[in-house]
Amino acid sequence: MEQTHKHKKLYIKTWGCQMNVYDSNRMVDILSALGYKQVNSPEDVDMIILNTCHIREKAIEKVFSELGRLRPYKQAKESKGGKMLIAVAGCVAQAEGDIIMKRAPYVDMVFGPQVYHQLPEMVLKASSDERVINTEFPTISKFDSLPDEHTIEGASAYLSIQEGCDNFCTFCVVPYTRGAEYSRSAREIIDEAHRLVDQGVLEIILLGQNVNTYHGAGLNGGTWKLANIIRAISEIDGVERVRYSTSHPRDMSDDLIAVHGEIEKLQPFLHLPVQSGSDKILESMNRKHTADHYREIIARLRKVCPDMAFSSDYIIGFPGETEEDFEATMQLARDVNYASCYSFKYSSRPGTPAANLKEGIVPDHIASERLARFQALINEQQTAFNQTCIGRTPPILFDRKGKKPDQLSGRSPYFQSVYVQGNERLIGHIIPVKITQAFDNSLTGEIEIYEDGSKD
Ligand code: SAH
Ligand code: SF4
Ligand code: F3S
Repeated sequence: MEQTHKHKKLYIKTWGCQMNVYDSNRMVDILSALGYKQVNSPEDVDMIILNTCHIREKAIEKVFSELGRLRPYKQAKESKGGKMLIAVAGCVAQAEGDIIMKRAPYVDMVFGPQVYHQLPEMVLKASSDERVINTEFPTISKFDSLPDEHTIEGASAYLSIQEGCDNFCTFCVVPYTRGAEYSRSAREIIDEAHRLVDQGVLEIILLGQNVNTYHGAGLNGGTWKLANIIRAISEIDGVERVRYSTSHPRDMSDDLIAVHGEIEKLQPFLHLPVQSGSDKILESMNRKHTADHYREIIARLRKVCPDMAFSSDYIIGFPGETEEDFEATMQLARDVNYASCYSFKYSSRPGTPAANLKEGIVPDHIASERLARFQALINEQQTAFNQTCIGRTPPILFDRKGKKPDQLSGRSPYFQSVYVQGNERLIGHIIPVKITQAFDNSLTGEIEIYEDGSKD
């Protein structure tokens, strides 16, 4: 009798930062070797993975509520005699693995961000009804055993070059969930970049929790820094754009600032989280830089690359923040004038040093009111920045279809989302677009001429 080969179905839901997005894609790659194929709905699948984020409050509650929503799918499958594995991965799994094992007995696998390369063994165990918890920090890096094959959608791809963090900002869980800092070798990174380009990738976004602390084995002995990696990646034929994220102001070294003036492919936009504009608060956060140090970095970058634009992360309402400290934060944002910016109300995370601060706790309604004032300022800046693009014709990298019919979505050099009406064949190309309208969070424009010289 002829047997039809059937793929197993995998549903993955991802929260958190771009590192988690990268990790989810890599899990898909590992599991594809075991016959799994990613699908968009949890119905009737063979495996569910929740790749979780622990950065702010209610992280574990979100995971339990999602598990509660998904559990009936598992019950439905099992009542028909089938099997569905449920896994919780990522930073909540790392931090709260034991609680998840206890409170959700229908979860089959719990594992942290540094061990997902062991998925084949873990799946084998879980398939024979042995529950798996794996929150080790292995001595051999996962990068040594990830598959070469990549599932890439679109023309822009993340490439993880550095992981973990040794900075221990007092509010942050990352050093505990991701572990100590680790840099991949230049050889591995360059090989991975070549494989991405072979699949049609035009833009490479170098990733790390602290990407500019990168210090890995160079190509010919010695240690390379991020600036060396940027140079090497931009020299690869087929790479049109390079970005990197996320950086720490303390590690914006001279050589890194210099490459912004030298390498055309390095895009004129930088996400540089600062967290606060008050030196007192920055010190209490253990950020190891001042507000003026940050201003100076921005000024130096604008000097080598005059059209450079910036985004940042700010925490509002950190313990000890007075109205005066908050005004210093507003002033820093005014001085920088951001193209976009994220801001969050401080959220106390158990186990971090700031969770023990007892003095100057900012009442919630005051933190909310300050956050609203800050976000109003940022909205103004963002809208004004977007307005300056009207009438210009920046090159847009089209990476996917838009939500409306015949609509395409792409990114400008400043990482703005740009929507146009256009033929799908433009996906995976960089085309000049005349910007016609600006909104708070996106731009629209018209394609004047296609790269082959045609008009439609
Ligand atoms: N590695 C990056 C960002 C890590 S987390 C850096 O060094 O800046 C992303 C953002 O979440 C942070 O920049 C910070 O603004 C925010 N964040 C982290 N912990 C937080 C907390 N306890 N409360 C509120 N926001 C937090
Ligand atoms: Fe967290 Fe600070 Fe490390 Fe960023 S640098 S990941 S905010 S500890
Ligand atoms: Fe969240 Fe972990 Fe990233 S806590 S922000 S997913 S490193």
